[in-house]
Amino acid sequence: MKENYMVCNCKQVSYANIADAVQNNTKFDDVLKTFESVQKITNCSTGCGGCHQKVLDIISDIMNGTAI
Ligand code: FES
Repeated sequence: MKENYMVCNCKQVSYANIADAVQNNTKFDDVLKTFESVQKITNCSTGCGGCHQKVLDIISDIMNGTAI
């Protein structure tokens, strides 16, 4: 099931935006590197930074195959 909800309110980035960005990522084995490119693609976590941990958790769930 593909969930969708707003993860980063500052930049209006949703779960689906992050999931798509992760799936377009070639460095699929490193959470922090993936985070950096997801951040470049979506601009998530470039405002208040309050969503940083949420974004990291989502990326690791997707990479571990426990999401989507
Ligand atoms: S909620 Fe993502 S940067 Fe503020």
